[in-house]
Amino acid sequence: MKIIESVQEMREWALAKRAQGQKITFVPTMGALHEGHLSLLREGRKLGDQLVLSIFVNPTQFGPNEDLEKYPRDHEGDLKKAKGCKVDVVFYPKAKDIYPEGFQTFVNVEGLSKPLCGASRPGHFRGVATVVLKLFNIVQPHVALFGEKDFQQLKVIQRMVKDLDLPVEIKPMPIVREDDGLAMSSRNRYLSPEDRQAALAISLSLSKAQLMVDQGETNPKKIIEMVQATLEETKKIKIDYVKLCNPETLEDLKTLKLPALLAIACLIGKTRLIDNCLLR
Ligand code: PAJ
Repeated sequence: MKIIESVQEMREWALAKRAQGQKITFVPTMGALHEGHLSLLREGRKLGDQLVLSIFVNPTQFGPNEDLEKYPRDHEGDLKKAKGCKVDVVFYPKAKDIYPEGFQTFVNVEGLSKPLCGASRPGHFRGVATVVLKLFNIVQPHVALFGEKDFQQLKVIQRMVKDLDLPVEIKPMPIVREDDGLAMSSRNRYLSPEDRQAALAISLSLSKAQLMVDQGETNPKKIIEMVQATLEETKKIKIDYVKLCNPETLEDLKTLKLPALLAIACLIGKTRLIDNCLLR
């Protein structure tokens, strides 16, 4: 497994592999790898000849009061896990090389970046879209994999690829959960045992919502109220949003039309967690 830190070396490696007719698959991450990331790597391994993993905690997608400094970092553990998934190259750039002095160009996917997490994290998706476009230009993948855990991020990236005619295929991947239902996240390691227990209400409320739909509920308001009540029952969860929306436009649904995206963001202590499901 090769570790590349230089932008230029990464580009040259990718160009050479492309010239040999090899198919490059790519999994961009911010590290602190868990089974969710590894599921993307395993699928990426199957889809191409050369598998690239990037690890870069991207400063432009964090707000001034967010956890950039404290974001979990586990370089040794990440490399071990990457090896286990037969990654060919780990691209591990430095912030000063991705954003050199004088940097001033950003990608803004306008509509899809506004609701949900965009409303409480202004500038977040601008940072995500910008770094992902840069990584695509450097790694030059044929296929890139993204998790549905970050559903809005996936939609923003798909839109950017379409709007800017990027020559890359986006492969969406299902959410990987712990045995008890908690969606895997690098931020789960911030949770105390009590917080971790309370966090189970998130995935529980998603299952209960599907059950309501199975039993014939068609009023979005009633579903949202049930989810809010389930989360609030724990006394530890502070809700950012609970939304039922059109999975393509991310606009709020006034009447239930299936499949519908049920998306949750909340705070447990200082830890921000998100989860979602497609109600069918
Ligand atoms: P990060 O949070 O490290 O996630 C990297 C990729 O792993 C994303 O596509 C995310 O959706 C996916 N992922 C995370 N948890 C998952 C889970 N439980 N199941 C399935 N997939 C999961 O998302 C980012 O990094 C960054 O915003 C990035 C795209 C790298 C840009 O900086």
